Amino acid sequence: MQAYRAAIFHLLDDPARGGESAHAFHPDGLLIVDRGHVIAAGDHATLAPTLGDTPVETLPGRLITPGFIDLHIHFPQTDCIAAHGGQLLEWLETHVFPAEAAFADPAHAAEAAGFFIAELLRNGTTTALVFGSSHKTSAEALFAEALARNMRLIAGKVLMDRHAPAALTDTVESGRRDTLDLIADWAGKGRLGYAVTPRFVVTSSEAQLAMAAEVLAAHPEIWMQTHLAENTAELARVAELYPAAADYLNIFERFGLVGPRSVFAHCIHLDAPAFERMATAGAAAAFCPTSNLFLGSGLFDLKTALSEGVKVGVGTDIGAGTSFSIPHTLGEAYKVGQLRGETLDPFQAFYLATLGGARALGLEDRIGNLAPAKEADFLVLDLAATPLLARRMTAARTLADRLFALTILADDRVVERTYLAGVLHHARGAVPP
Ligand code: GUN
Ligand code: ZN
Repeated sequence: MQAYRAAIFHLLDDPARGGESAHAFHPDGLLIVDRGHVIAAGDHATLAPTLGDTPVETLPGRLITPGFIDLHIHFPQTDCIAAHGGQLLEWLETHVFPAEAAFADPAHAAEAAGFFIAELLRNGTTTALVFGSSHKTSAEALFAEALARNMRLIAGKVLMDRHAPAALTDTVESGRRDTLDLIADWAGKGRLGYAVTPRFVVTSSEAQLAMAAEVLAAHPEIWMQTHLAENTAELARVAELYPAAADYLNIFERFGLVGPRSVFAHCIHLDAPAFERMATAGAAAAFCPTSNLFLGSGLFDLKTALSEGVKVGVGTDIGAGTSFSIPHTLGEAYKVGQLRGETLDPFQAFYLATLGGARALGLEDRIGNLAPAKEADFLVLDLAATPLLARRMTAARTLADRLFALTILADDRVVERTYLAGVLHHARGAVPP
């Protein structure tokens, strides 16, 4: 058993429903952790008498929060982040497919997986829903690194059997075999999960989408992740390939791929009835603002998605996204709202990045906040990590103001420590092993 004394902030519910009572803030708080789980998080004055001889580490001026959840990210695109030129389809051809082709080499995949997981932890991301490349070895390398740290991570090998370079395409049968092997070898090991991962409907044949749906239906413990309605040229291509579909979402509906364990990245060019269908099915959307701005894809309609009842989380979408930092991503989400004439509330933003992401994955009983019995994935944030942040925080008068300034000014430097299941896995400035 170990206890940490610092300020504590977390979400207990969706602020859109719960208002002020949806979050808890303890300026002088105590977090008590035992065998990888939260025992309690609350006021120091209330909890200290329950401690007995439990050791307490005092962290003056620090803020403890739950770890962040990245609902959409591509592991093999770490090396093509910040690639100049082109919107989605051209960018995929020019930058992404060559970068992903390099993951045929298991040594490259292993080295990149170590970097990728370390970068997530440096930025305070404790759970991610991750795309591999089409190579089985890419997912294996990633799972091995996450398992070694007892990280809660969900990933899948990309399925794509058409309209991509030969070095990257699989087939219906090889995609099925690799997917089933990966589920057998990794799903449920430690805190790992598997997501069946058809890249998007452009690069998967109808037979491959049907196979993905069969695998999903046969394995209730796994997830499905894909891209949906991101870019207008993509929409035109999809309309050519599926002239009979009522809309883009309907393609996935026809295959039985829209359900409570499905996460759709982007969802930019969707109307309210489509969001309503997603909500009815229990499917989730990953809002990826840095990516959507970088590729010029468009402005996600968060307000309609939420009002229709869609579960929403945030994704960095590396490498179209431009930062591994979820707080930074929330700052960009705010700017997307500004361009739409809508204001993203700071509490709502932190909800999307923690409990909202957990709900999108159906994991709210395990992660997303610091409620008793949750897995102890938490962060120690240093809100004075840079001179500018320190100055701005001194000027801040309210918690909302502090959280908001954090999203606009933060990068990986604010994350002083990252704990996975109660164990320290990142300490700022420490020399990596
Ligand atoms: N649509 C299909 N593949 C991709 C990808 O790798 N990144 C993004 N942003 N969109 C996609
Ligand atoms: Zn993506």
